Amino acid sequence: MQSRAVIIGTGSALPSCVVTNHDLETRVDTSDEWIRTRTGILERRIAAEGENNSDLATQAALNAMEMAGVSAEEIDLIVVATLTPDMPMPSVACLVQKNIGALGAGVLDISATCSGFIYGLSIADKFIQSNRKMKVLVIGSEVLSRRVNWQDRTTCVLFGDGAGAAVLTGTREDRGILSTHLHGDGRLWELLTIRGLGTAVAVDEEMLSRGWQYIHMQGREVFKHAVKALETVTWEAMDAVGWKADELDMVFCHQANMRILDFVRERLGLSEDKLFINIHKYGNTSAASIPIALDEANREGRLFSGANVLMMAFGGGFTWGSLAMRW
Ligand code: ACO
Repeated sequence: MQSRAVIIGTGSALPSCVVTNHDLETRVDTSDEWIRTRTGILERRIAAEGENNSDLATQAALNAMEMAGVSAEEIDLIVVATLTPDMPMPSVACLVQKNIGALGAGVLDISATCSGFIYGLSIADKFIQSNRKMKVLVIGSEVLSRRVNWQDRTTCVLFGDGAGAAVLTGTREDRGILSTHLHGDGRLWELLTIRGLGTAVAVDEEMLSRGWQYIHMQGREVFKHAVKALETVTWEAMDAVGWKADELDMVFCHQANMRILDFVRERLGLSEDKLFINIHKYGNTSAASIPIALDEANREGRLFSGANVLMMAFGGGFTWGSLAMRW
């Protein structure tokens, strides 16, 4: 049998500061009722001053490594999915490597927005298929609160900070990652952007006055594309592994909006307990959303050996993807 990549440990890290919908009512013209009914979000975690993406990523990684029983010296590759790195250079992966002391590891960040963790798992899967002994740390980590305009009610109520991680290695047993499906459509890039702070636009008064340092989203348009892409990529994964919906044990969909999650649950005909939901606690944490959910489910004992697990995500770019694995 070919080698398959298995997750042997998960971890997460969330800032301690909780910002509720009621807190946001004092900042912008919004209401708990609007946020709850449109998104399902009740509260989110916001990083404290000086608490950076790499700090959250490091803590999530250490938690995952502890569960996996893997030391820093054993890690061969660190992949960090993020759209909110500490800085353009070095990568968050380099900073995590330094913090945990995994000096033998290759390091890279990937930019695939909310689909980043699935992209990261897919990269880990390919490496492990060619070398079963490899140990790969895949992290999704975000500090979106620093790329949100806290005066803009259409975005500031949606996002939160946090990190999740998984340690993977190879097995010849009949489990692990069975299939991955990655997609994108750059033609639609303008629907969800942070236009500034790259190299295309000078960081000047004009850029700052346009608010291009912040997330801009045409929410309704994004919503339409998200539900369509998530449905397609879900069935793509199901067809690839030959699963029927009633064979699914746990589904992790990017936590962007409760209405999107309800749509996925309805299309798959899933019972409530099979679609993991934590958007009410953390909002949309982009690349961190799936690994945080995975770690919570794992620590709650909801992932049993042999469980059929499906993941899917959609985000800016656009990017989208799915992954089927036997736990
Ligand atoms: N409080 C009160 N009113 C608000 C708020 C708010 N926080 N935000 C917007 N409104 C108002 C709008 O101004 C608008 O008012 P108007 O009708 O007078 O013009 C009204 O509410 C409706 O606004 P819409 O944007 O049409 O609201 P919608 O029902 O589409 O919900 C939302 C917005 C929640 C953003 C939804 O469109 C959504 O979830 N989209 C998808 C998000 C997503 O999946 N993103 C992808 C991943 S994120 C990433 O990649 C980083």
